[in-house]
Amino acid sequence: MSALRHFIDIDALEISDLKSILANASELKEIRKKEGRRLEGPLNGKILAMVFEQPSTRTRISFDVGMRELGGETLMLTGREMQLGRGESIADTARVLSRFVDGIMIRMLDHDAIEELAENASIPVINALSHKSHPCQIMADVMTYEEHKGSIEDATIAWTGDGNNVLISWIHAAEKFKFKMRVASPDLLALDADFVKDMQNRGVSLEMTGDPYEAVDGADCVVTDCFVSMGDEDAGRRHNMLMPYQVNDRLMDAAHKDAIFMHCLPAHRGEEVTDSVMDGPKSVVFDEAENRLHAQKGILNWCFGKI
Ligand code: CP
Ligand code: NVA
Repeated sequence: MSALRHFIDIDALEISDLKSILANASELKEIRKKEGRRLEGPLNGKILAMVFEQPSTRTRISFDVGMRELGGETLMLTGREMQLGRGESIADTARVLSRFVDGIMIRMLDHDAIEELAENASIPVINALSHKSHPCQIMADVMTYEEHKGSIEDATIAWTGDGNNVLISWIHAAEKFKFKMRVASPDLLALDADFVKDMQNRGVSLEMTGDPYEAVDGADCVVTDCFVSMGDEDAGRRHNMLMPYQVNDRLMDAAHKDAIFMHCLPAHRGEEVTDSVMDGPKSVVFDEAENRLHAQKGILNWCFGKI
């Protein structure tokens, strides 16, 4: 087994490492708040290649700024600009990049390709979103939850909407951080039944329903995501099926009175969430977005062996 510290999926990591990453993220957030931005740090001299096959605002900027604030540098690439776009294999791309840079962060729908990149790289690889999962996002989400509500252990997180990549990483985190998940999705967009059974067999408290009101009943946190993820091609059908899962004031009122609302963003206001919830007192979505920066720095420090 490789001793390299890849960050591909939360379920493949040790809880001690996940907690170190979050502790480092919080510490760096505090220092930045007190002392302002510094462009030097433990990653001085390191270069991170950032490969994006899909668009990104938060992930791209937070990794770029985070790397610089740790003293390192970045190289921004798209698959199209590389020979990868003309058929060079992912394994050869991994071998070549490993000769030039110190780490690779990649956003690519094909999760198996990210795994193959990691298997063939001799430097750390970070999954910056695939169609299967979005682990970096959920590190920021756990951090945000704990800042607002205290320890996430035993908390009830309710998801309403599509059974997508962000939800899968939430469920991976539920296993590691030991919180409960209640998920409401329409049947045709629900998570794969084998995945659900497997996670339940592994001891995850994971309840599935078709009713968003049942999912959010008394929950500590309500989470949703867009109706149409990158790579989904059935937008019209998804809109019709997912409108009843919209997070609006009525649904938020069915959660615990102190519940918070989270969304990885970008939000499609008026679709999966109303303006009144996004901009209301329970919404922590912009803290969540900010925490991408701090969590990313924890992930980078961990990948490069600095924590
Ligand atoms: N939440 C998230 O990953 O946002 P971006 O697609 O803008 O990176
Ligand atoms: N589920 C969304 C998340 C975007 C950050 C997508 O994959 O497009």
